[in-house]
Order: sequence, then C-alpha cells, then structure tokens
Amino acid sequence: MNGWTMDEKNKKRIIDGGREISDTGFEKDLRPEFLSDYIGQESVKEKLKILIDAAKLRGEAPEHILFCGPPGLGKTTLSHIIANEMGVNIRVTAGPVIERAGDLAAIITNLEENDILFIDEIHRLNRSVEEIMYPALEDGVLDIVLGKGPTAKTFRIDLPKFTLIGATTRAGLLTAPLRDRFGAVYRVDFYDADSLRVIIERSARILGIEADKEGVLEIARRSRGTPRVANRILKRVRDFAQVKADNRINAETAARALEMLEIDAMGLDNMDRKIITTIIENFGGGPVGIDTIAASVSEEPGTIEDVYEPFLIQIGFISRTPSGRKATEKAYRHFGFERDIPAQDGLF
Ligand SMILES: Nc1ncnc2c1ncn2[C@@H]1O[C@H](COP(=O)(O)OP(=O)(O)OP(=O)(O)O)[C@@H](O)[C@H]1O
Ligand SMILES: [Mg+2]
Repeated sequence: MNGWTMDEKNKKRIIDGGREISDTGFEKDLRPEFLSDYIGQESVKEKLKILIDAAKLRGEAPEHILFCGPPGLGKTTLSHIIANEMGVNIRVTAGPVIERAGDLAAIITNLEENDILFIDEIHRLNRSVEEIMYPALEDGVLDIVLGKGPTAKTFRIDLPKFTLIGATTRAGLLTAPLRDRFGAVYRVDFYDADSLRVIIERSARILGIEADKEGVLEIARRSRGTPRVANRILKRVRDFAQVKADNRINAETAARALEMLEIDAMGLDNMDRKIITTIIENFGGGPVGIDTIAASVSEEPGTIEDVYEPFLIQIGFISRTPSGRKATEKAYRHFGFERDIPAQDGLF
C-alpha cells in the first residue's frame, strides 16, 4: 500500500498513474464489476473469459493468475471482476503487508473453498513468506514451523482450494519460482484513445457530468493511455467547467483546464519534460543510466521506472538500450530541440 501522507499527496502529479488518497472514494464507484463493463484490453478479456467459463464448467477454482503492467490500467479491477464472475469471495492484501510467514498462514487458512486471494504488489513479498507460499500454491498445503532450533516442530495443514491472483507493476522483480507457479500471466497495456473515450463517457455518466464528444476526446488524448488518469482529469476538468464554463465540458474547456494543469497535447507534464530535457541537455541525448537520470530530476529510480518511463517508451520518446536510456528523434522534435550534428573529422 502506498500510505501517502497529505504532504506527499499534494506533491503528486495529476497524471501519475499511481493511487492517491482522493482516488479511493470515486474509484470504487467507477470500477467496472463484470467483464461486460470492462472496456478495452480485448485480448486479456477474451482469455480471461475462457479461463472463467472453463473453471465454472468444472466447478473448480481457476488456476493462479498474475497481472502485470503499469499503475492505473485495471489490474485490481480485473481481479475483483474475476471474483464477481466466479461468485466467490476475494480477500485483498499486499506484498509489503504480509511481513511474516504466520501472517500469510492466518490469511490462507481463513479462506473458504474456491476463494480468491489477491496480493497486490506481489513483487514486494518477503522471501520467507514467498517460500511457504510455494507448497500452498502447488500442493494445497502449508508447512508451519513452530519453535526454533532442534526442538522446532513442523505441522502440515491442508488448505481449501483457492486461486491466488497477484498484481505487479514490476514483473521483472518477481523471482522465477514464484512466477512459474502462475498458470496464467496477463499483461495489461496502455489503452488507445478510443477505449479511453468510452471509459470517460461511462465515468461521466456515473458521476453526472455533462461532456460533449470533443471534450471527452480531448481528455482521452491527454490521459497517457491510463483509465485512472482519465478519471482524475475528468474530475479536474469538471471543476474547471463548473467555475468557468457553465458546467459543460467541451473541447475548449477541456483544453483550457488541461493547459492550466500544465498537461500538454500528448498528456506529458513538467516531470516528463524534465526527464527528457535532462537526457538531452545534460547527457547529450543518452545513453544514460536510470540512477543518474533519477538523481538529476530528484526522483526515486523505481518511481521513474514504474510510473514515468513506461509511457515515454510507449509513445517512442525514450528507448532503452543495454547502456542506458536514450532520447529519440521524436522526443527532440516534441520538445523543440535541434539534434546536434557532430562535426566530422577531417572534413576541412
Ligand atoms: N477497463 C476499464 N474500464 C473502465 N474503467 C477502468 C478500466 N480499467 C481501470 N479502470 C478505472 O481505473 C481505475 C484504476 O484501475 P485499477 O485500480 O484496477 O488499476 P491497477 O492496475 O490496479 O493500478 P495499481 O497498479 O496502481 O494498483 C479503476 O478504479 C477504474 O475506475
Ligand atoms: Mg491495483
């Protein structure tokens, strides 16, 4: 869990895909409950539907599922949808919360047959917790060690059949033995503007916001392919429209509000600009290591990798090379930089 304090929260960017306190209330209202309300991610949805239907036909819990992808794209939402579609309980926890093996044992032994255990940020599971998880996932048993040293005793507990759903923004940090125990791994990707438009229209309907087609499109284009960002911007634009424009969202109010929020036509903000201009101005366009970039823009390397960089890579502004990150031609053009053409030796 993020556990933002107010100060941290106020510093956060509006276009950050990560959660913030003010999201929690309205996210619940806006979260689709069944696969049929879930917009986009067609290939994930199709595979999930087969997995769910097959499990239902057999009257069994589906195999363990891992969702990976950047923040705010719908991993938690999909996990709740699976529980709803299966008609089972979902027990929600997160990697960093389960500190000791006993915490996990307490959670798992309280599950009912076919329940879902959802572990968010599963890449942050403690190593010792992870290890007692392996037999639980594979053989449905939990080996609990009581006491220490020569007097220690091991108890084996048979578990109810359950499905683990893990979510992670950093699939690369998962250990191989854990990753191998998931029968299904789904990657959620950034949404295209058209899917985002439908998501925003749905949210506007639920929140009772009046927005015309162009206004919705303007928000969709600038939402970094991320539903959480789209919903957040929708609310900010609504505030703007309420105060400055008769309560109606159209292309002009959306554009003006986004300008005020310093989000540009591609959905980039000051931090994105800072990252790109740092690579270009201070490091000759790269390649430069993530730690160096992070230090230059005063941000955590993990946050840059998790939150900022995936979208910049997706739109082709940054490329990842073995020796570091490079700014692409497209990034130079977008931010109005001329590429320096190095003088060629021996020409004059
Ligand atoms: N396909 C979708 N259709 C409609 N709304 C969506 C969709 N996906 C996500 N959302 C909206 O975006 C919000 C964020 O999604 P969610 O919490 O599932 O993201 P996440 O991938 O779990 O993010 P994190 O990595 O930060 O946990 C949801 O509350 C929901 O309102
Ligand atoms: Mg989530």
